[in-house]
Amino acid sequence: MREQRPAPSPQDAETGGPVEPGTGSAVDGRPAAAEPEPRRTHDGRGDGEPLVVVEGLRKVYRTGPREVVALSDVSLTVRPGELVAVRGRSGAGKSTLLNLIGGLDRPDAGRVVVAGREVTSLPEDGLLELRRDVIGFVFQSFGLIPVLSAAENVGVPLRLARVPAAEREERARTLLALVGLEAHADQRPYELSGGQQQRVAIARALANRPRLLIADEPTGQLDSQTGRQIMRLLHALVRDEGVTVIVATHDQALITAADRHYHLHDGRLTPS
Ligand SMILES: Nc1ncnc2c1ncn2[C@@H]1O[C@H](COP(=O)(O)OP(=O)(O)OP(=O)(O)O)[C@@H](O)[C@H]1O
Ligand SMILES: [Mg+2]
Repeated sequence: MREQRPAPSPQDAETGGPVEPGTGSAVDGRPAAAEPEPRRTHDGRGDGEPLVVVEGLRKVYRTGPREVVALSDVSLTVRPGELVAVRGRSGAGKSTLLNLIGGLDRPDAGRVVVAGREVTSLPEDGLLELRRDVIGFVFQSFGLIPVLSAAENVGVPLRLARVPAAEREERARTLLALVGLEAHADQRPYELSGGQQQRVAIARALANRPRLLIADEPTGQLDSQTGRQIMRLLHALVRDEGVTVIVATHDQALITAADRHYHLHDGRLTPS
């Protein structure tokens, strides 16, 4: 259940009280998920049922007569609380794999199960729900909305989940504090550095308390020092917040920090 995940602070940001198991998300008031899920523990990293199961994934892109086999037969299991890195040269299929795991695209063969839901056979509204409730995305290009402040950007997913404005504002500020940007809540993206923008994007990805954070080259546009800062943040999210992270990266520091790392090559994934 989502609410068995530790909240970002000991007290719930909106109510000031503890987040009670079984009462649904305190952020958006949605009912608790019906299906029981294993309890996750801070020290029991990698315990319990897999959060992500990828089996025999195949994806072929066709542009006119040309075919590109981006993934030929990829399998992967990720357990709750793990930080898993996928590396591979440009064009190896990393983004393709992450997009398929997150239900942003459909494979030609194989299946993906996230939090017990079969992503590969979910209808469009089920995918929307999954991306709203279970998965947070972070992209290399940050993807912040230029005319909104940092806090408003973080609040976008909450707005989509119809969280009232006051709650949204409070939760956005709590999340910005989590990524060390409480003093920058009212600044627009262009008034922030690249690393700060990426931290806002991570805060936004965490807005709906996702169990799974999918990060596609989150340090790709950053200098190595700022990249390390983002890496430490991802690491802390896994350790302290119980978030499970799958990251595609060329960044050696991020690869080293991962619990497990894989190499994607010729459409296949192998431990590295
Ligand atoms: N929409 C698409 N249409 C056609 N071909 C595509 C499409 N998306 C990706 N490809 C091709 O699939 C292969 C894998 O692309 P993908 O973006 O997954 O690689 P990547 O490992 O993420 O690369 P990078 O490190 O540059 O981001 C590439 O050969 C790419 O050209
Ligand atoms: Mg990519």
